[in-house]
Amino acid sequence: MRISIIGLGYVGLTIAVGAADGGHTVIGFDVNDALVAQLNAGKSHIEGISDSQLDGFVSSGLFTASFDPSVLEGSDVIVIAVPTPLDEKRNPDLSFVHAAADLIAMYVKSPSLIVNESTSYPGTLRKEIATRILGVDHLFASSPERVDPGNTRWGTKNTPRLIGGLTPEAVAKAREFYESFCDSIIEVSSPEVAEAAKIFENTFRQVNIALVNEFAQISDALGISSREVIEAAATKPYGFMPFSPGPGVGGHCIPVDPSYLAHVANEVGVPATFIKRANEVNLAMPAYVVKRVVAGAGGSIEGKSIVVVGVSYKANVADTRESSAAAVIDLLREQGATVVWHDNLVGSWRGETSSPLTAHDIAVVVTKHDGISDAAIKASGYVFDCTGTVSDVDGI
Ligand SMILES: NC(=O)c1ccc[n+]([C@@H]2O[C@H](COP(=O)([O-])OP(=O)(O)OC[C@H]3O[C@@H](n4cnc5c(N)ncnc54)[C@H](O)[C@@H]3O)[C@@H](O)[C@H]2O)c1
Repeated sequence: MRISIIGLGYVGLTIAVGAADGGHTVIGFDVNDALVAQLNAGKSHIEGISDSQLDGFVSSGLFTASFDPSVLEGSDVIVIAVPTPLDEKRNPDLSFVHAAADLIAMYVKSPSLIVNESTSYPGTLRKEIATRILGVDHLFASSPERVDPGNTRWGTKNTPRLIGGLTPEAVAKAREFYESFCDSIIEVSSPEVAEAAKIFENTFRQVNIALVNEFAQISDALGISSREVIEAAATKPYGFMPFSPGPGVGGHCIPVDPSYLAHVANEVGVPATFIKRANEVNLAMPAYVVKRVVAGAGGSIEGKSIVVVGVSYKANVADTRESSAAAVIDLLREQGATVVWHDNLVGSWRGETSSPLTAHDIAVVVTKHDGISDAAIKASGYVFDCTGTVSDVDGI
């Protein structure tokens, strides 16, 4: 099949490579011309897709990137994989999805299957996409992406894929496409079910992470280790799933997607109380971390030098979107500390660059990538670890 992917970020490039691997001819369209040039030169910008893998598909002609939307015409399948962030008021911002739909409406005149993989609330495919692309006999399906960047066990191939379509023909065509590179396809009765399943999965994580973050604070006040408690509770073979406390939640999904559910809940008059409370707890974690650091460092960090280790939102990825490291660093600085950060995967961020991991008065570990040495962290006078991976130091 000839496949077009709109948006070549974490999701779009992953699907592009999956589809090329399945033998399809893939055209990636992105508005970022520098990214397009980089991809056509065989240089990947995401973890999990190597330059050599990408270069192989570019050289064989199975993958081409373009910033010319006319390439979308003549596709068997068009996949939408564009950002779905929140606006300043933390409401859904569907402007990227609308822009992608409008490009299809403008440039695609022969019938295709249009699949939305971008995460959004139930009703997005039907009301926000299909209604903008009229006059051509397209098929429409929703298949929300579940990729977990950096996860080496679960990838596009072996993570079961949900499909819901506006018509049975759309579901059948989407199944034919995804079956060519995914092991397991699950058809659901409507696109709304598929869309809701994705945001409910992420809400489940958001709420449970908030619960464990609050529990970590209770445990600490009780003088017991929350991590030991969680490990003990996880020995129960049924009815319990362990989550780990941390400095908050980051990335494009967990801090954002539940607010999409809260938005539609509000529209139908049901208050999403758990989501609201979970947001409050998770957003307050950086302040809790800093409070513990100040207490652990003897009551004041004024004039102290601090290195924050790891500023991406999780280990072994360079993604800093919504990372709690930003709030941790800002709050440490507000308390009068001189703060640098070390993260070679990120390199540069917020106009600053990664510093070498050397001894400071205090080290605060927010994210620990593979290869970061505990000894180098422990060279600092006081260590506070948010990851539970550095032995015999303070932390959550
Ligand atoms: N990153 C993840 O782990 C993950 C996992 C599952 C689902 N999702 C969802 O997938 C969607 C995409 O996320 P992502 O992480 O790949 O985003 P991203 O920011 O990494 O990539 C999006 C790409 O879309 C491009 N783009 C924006 N507007 C465009 C337009 N009108 N036409 C063409 N290209 C356009 C951007 O230039 C960018 O390269 C979001 O809805 C997200 O919630 C992300």
